[in-house]
Amino acid sequence: MKPLILAIESSCDETSAAVLAGLEVKSNIIASQKVHEKFGGVVPELASRAHQQNIVPVVDQALAEAGVTLSQIDVIACTGGPGLNGALLVGMSYAKSLSLALGKPLVFVDHMRAHILAHFLHKGDIIQNVPLPMLCLTVSGGHTQIVLVSSPMDMQVVGKTIDDAAGEAFDKAGKVLGLPYPGGPHIDRLAKLGNPNAFKFTIPDTKGFDFSFSGLKTSLLYFLRDEQKKQSDFIAKNLNDICASYQNTIIRYLQRKMEAAIEEYRPASIAIAGGVSANSALRESFTTMANQKEIPCLVPAFEFTTDNAAMIGAVGYFSYLSNNFSSLSDVPNPKAKI
Ligand code: KG4
Ligand code: ZN
Repeated sequence: MKPLILAIESSCDETSAAVLAGLEVKSNIIASQKVHEKFGGVVPELASRAHQQNIVPVVDQALAEAGVTLSQIDVIACTGGPGLNGALLVGMSYAKSLSLALGKPLVFVDHMRAHILAHFLHKGDIIQNVPLPMLCLTVSGGHTQIVLVSSPMDMQVVGKTIDDAAGEAFDKAGKVLGLPYPGGPHIDRLAKLGNPNAFKFTIPDTKGFDFSFSGLKTSLLYFLRDEQKKQSDFIAKNLNDICASYQNTIIRYLQRKMEAAIEEYRPASIAIAGGVSANSALRESFTTMANQKEIPCLVPAFEFTTDNAAMIGAVGYFSYLSNNFSSLSDVPNPKAKI
């Protein structure tokens, strides 16, 4: 019998709950917090308050949609970090009380591992084939990593950002371009209408498989400042081309590093994961690169790219299989590392 897993995610600005039977997703409810939009970024205290309001209805809806009652649940999986302390605390406290009340085991999950193991999830009967070892580029609002996945429980970070994450490079650019928060999806949408070679930004030069995005963001800032001196409505007149050129620089940089890592580690498959893996140009460029190299490329379903509880359930499943449980005395680990 496949274990029934109730999964909870509350690390940042999405309150999410999912029910899984093994790795099969029966429901995956995501409540996105709109309250942060007017601040141009996530406000931690407001995130915690919104999680408190959302968590009970979101869990209820996930159970109802899956047609499962709490008494049928075998294990509770919940994000334990990395993330915002107060936001994590809401999900973890709720998961602990459920575990105590139901007498069911608890697994606190690493959020970044979960983004990667989202590739093992399936809806319906078709089981995902994930050739291992897999080299995964994990790109989110807080992280940018290249991870070598030898097995679901055995991962090694082989490259990471030394400053900003790729998602921050998108979101900070969105802010200076006057786009709503988060800027990533808006830049993606506008870039489709622009010329990726209209403006030139230098691809950062970093050692090995590490990344740096803070210089790129600053070069956009200076570029816009200089152009606006010559033409005050430069942004409005060139928005699509700016988005396309800036996005293209990020993607070429990510791809360049990933190609070097493929040469070094010779994986059986490659993958992208995390919120930025929703980016249409990134998905296309990685798929094309993988086809040329004749290596399978796993691109997650949109539902499993940005923060969601189903991916937390995937880690819960593998932890359950290996009897790897957490304790009621565990506390949030906002700076957790794989
Ligand atoms: O994984 P995620 O939901 O949250 C974190 O764990 O950080 O990632 C959120 C990030 C944000 O920076 C957002 O702008 C970015 O993912 N993002 C995108 C797209 N959709 C979401 N970036 C570029 N293109 C997109 N289509
Ligand atoms: Zn995330």
